[in-house]
Amino acid sequence: MGRMDGKVAVITGGASGIGRGCALRFAEEGASVMVADLNLDRANEVADEVVGAGGAAQAVQVDTASEEACEAMAAATVDAFGKIDACVAAAGISHAGYVSRDAETQATEDRFDKDDMLALDKSVDSWQRVIDVNLTGVMLTDRAVARHMLGSESGGAIVNIASVAAVTALKGSADYCVSKAGVWMLTKCLAIELARNKIRVNAVGPGYIRTSMSAAVTVHDGWVKAREKETPLRRLGEPVDIANACLYLASDESSFVTGEILFPDGGLNAHVRG
Ligand SMILES: NC(=O)c1ccc[n+]([C@@H]2O[C@H](COP(=O)([O-])OP(=O)(O)OC[C@H]3O[C@@H](n4cnc5c(N)ncnc54)[C@H](O)[C@@H]3O)[C@@H](O)[C@H]2O)c1
Repeated sequence: MGRMDGKVAVITGGASGIGRGCALRFAEEGASVMVADLNLDRANEVADEVVGAGGAAQAVQVDTASEEACEAMAAATVDAFGKIDACVAAAGISHAGYVSRDAETQATEDRFDKDDMLALDKSVDSWQRVIDVNLTGVMLTDRAVARHMLGSESGGAIVNIASVAAVTALKGSADYCVSKAGVWMLTKCLAIELARNKIRVNAVGPGYIRTSMSAAVTVHDGWVKAREKETPLRRLGEPVDIANACLYLASDESSFVTGEILFPDGGLNAHVRG
C-alpha cells in the first residue's frame, strides 16, 4: 500500500533536482505524476523514468511565470489523470541568468563569485525575473491547481518550495531571499484562504542540497567543507531528503497541518538563527 495510492500530483520544476526527486518518490508511493517544467525534453525523461519503474507519469511544458501556461498545465493534468490531489511548486531559479542544465555544465559555467550581484548593482530586470519565477510563479501555480481542487470532497494539498533563504539573508542574493520569504508568507495566506475548501498549503525550506542549482558551488571542496561545518548533521542534503518532507506534507499523514514550513536542512536553520 503506497502513501499516495490513487492520488494525482503535479510537480513543477519536475525535470531536475528537487522536483525530479519528488516526482520519483511520489510515484514510488503510488501517485500518478504530471512532470511540469520549462524544459520539456528533460521533463519527458523523468516521466519515462517513472513509467520505466512501473509508475504513471506524463510531462507538460510550463513557464510558471505565465498565468496562461499554469492554467494549461493544470488542465492538462486533469485531462490526463482526471483530477489533481497534490502539487509541489518546485520550479525556481537562483538568479536571473540561471538556467537549469546538467550538473557538470553547471559546475563549469554557472556563477560562483557573486560580488557583482549586490542589490546596489542589480538591474531591475534581473530582480524582476527572479520575483516573477520564484514568487509570482508559485502563486500562479498554486491557484491554477487549487481551482481544480475546489469541488473535491477530499480537498487537496499544496507544497511550496521555499528555502532557508526565506529566513536567512544571503549576500548577493537579495532577489532570491525576498522571493523565498514571499513564498513563505504566500503559503500562510493561501492556507487560511483555502482551509474551508479542505485545501492545505504548506512550505518546505531546504538547506544546501546537491542539485544542478548548487553545482557551481558544490564543485568547490572548500565551499562544501564550510557548509558541512555550519550544518549540525555535517552533510549537504540530497533531493530525496526534500522529497520525503514534501511527501509527508502532500499525503494524508499531514491532514491537520496547514500554513506551516518544514526545514529539512540538517539543523542549519537552528544553528544559524538559534
Ligand atoms: N538546491 C538547493 O540547495 C536549494 C536550496 C533551497 C531551495 N531550493 C529551491 O528548490 C527548488 C528546486 O531547485 P533545484 O535545486 O532542484 O534546482 P534545479 O535547477 O535542479 O531544478 C529547477 C527546475 O525548475 C525548472 N524551471 C526553472 N524556471 C522555470 C519556469 N519559469 N517554469 C517552469 N520550470 C522552471 C528548471 O528547468 C529545472 O528543471 C527551487 O525553487 C530552489 O530555489 C534549492
